[in-house]
Amino acid sequence: MSSFVRNVSIWVSPYLFAAGNGFPRTYETYCTTCYRLTAVCMSRYPSLNISPATLADIITMLVNDDCLRFLATLADDSVDLIVTDPPYYIGFDGGKGWDSQWKTDAEYLAWCDEWTRECVRVLKPNRMLVVWGTLKVESNLLYRLQTSKITGLVPQNEIIWSYNWGGRAKTNFARKHEIAWCWSKGKDFLFNADDVRVTRKVTKNIRTGEEYTKGTIPTCVWEQNNHTMSAEFCGWHPTTKNLDVLDRIIKAYSPVPTDEEDSTVLDIFSGSGSTAISALRNNRKFLGCELDPDYHTKSLTRIHDLTGVTVPTK
Ligand SMILES: C[S@@+](CC[C@H](N)C(=O)[O-])C[C@H]1O[C@@H](n2cnc3c(N)ncnc32)[C@H](O)[C@@H]1O
Repeated sequence: MSSFVRNVSIWVSPYLFAAGNGFPRTYETYCTTCYRLTAVCMSRYPSLNISPATLADIITMLVNDDCLRFLATLADDSVDLIVTDPPYYIGFDGGKGWDSQWKTDAEYLAWCDEWTRECVRVLKPNRMLVVWGTLKVESNLLYRLQTSKITGLVPQNEIIWSYNWGGRAKTNFARKHEIAWCWSKGKDFLFNADDVRVTRKVTKNIRTGEEYTKGTIPTCVWEQNNHTMSAEFCGWHPTTKNLDVLDRIIKAYSPVPTDEEDSTVLDIFSGSGSTAISALRNNRKFLGCELDPDYHTKSLTRIHDLTGVTVPTK
């Protein structure tokens, strides 16, 4: 059986894109077909030993699918960075229902455990899993606690996105921040310090008088508004993330692509496509899924408008 699969994988690929045979019609569908085929072969016949890099290098793709179904098509150790923003189970979804799919905290947390473990499986070693969260409900703290039971996942940072726009609470301090929790797969992790440095306020070392030649690495508290007047504000998704914040995460934690090797970012709750936009405008490849067909369609347009890229969907 395995020699049959080996033959198929060698023989099918050139055949599928032969000009004039009518299937598949575009390079995108060709790539996607190869991608799916390779993923299936890898999961069923691990002894084939197909390089995971080959798989992730093939294509950028945003499918309209459930996260667990999509994750099942990805190979072990195949993506360079995961940045994702799950439903928080607080009922904040613009009336669509995606944030109230569970009956209890326990059910929600069991689901979170499932996709988190899958994310760890598909992430390459020494790379980062970044999960947006909110402190609004206890279940999100419990989520953090349960991640401590996942072997190989090491907590590394909390990035705080603080903003100052939108409505104000009348009876309490307005809550104007979100947190991105960062875990590495394994103790060590990639950090491209020189790609995220910012201008220093103090230009000389106070003690030695020496001029600083480089900017400084920012703290983990970042202020950015998703201003409604900005060109990138989408308006139709209630939880769109700020693109500059995502840019910094992607530049810091995913490898810079080279002629030999691509760099792939995964988001399994793509929503309005913010992670995709940020990945593409930083020359990374993007893999992702979004369950809601309306968001999925609108996000493809948004991604195209902001990056010029038509992202394949299947
Ligand atoms: C918090 S939002 C993500 C917003 C995104 N960060 C952005 O900038 O637009 C979560 C998204 O997950 C989607 N979703 C909910 N359940 C899902 C599932 N099982 N699989 C895939 N996507 C799902 C929702 O439709 C929603 O768009």
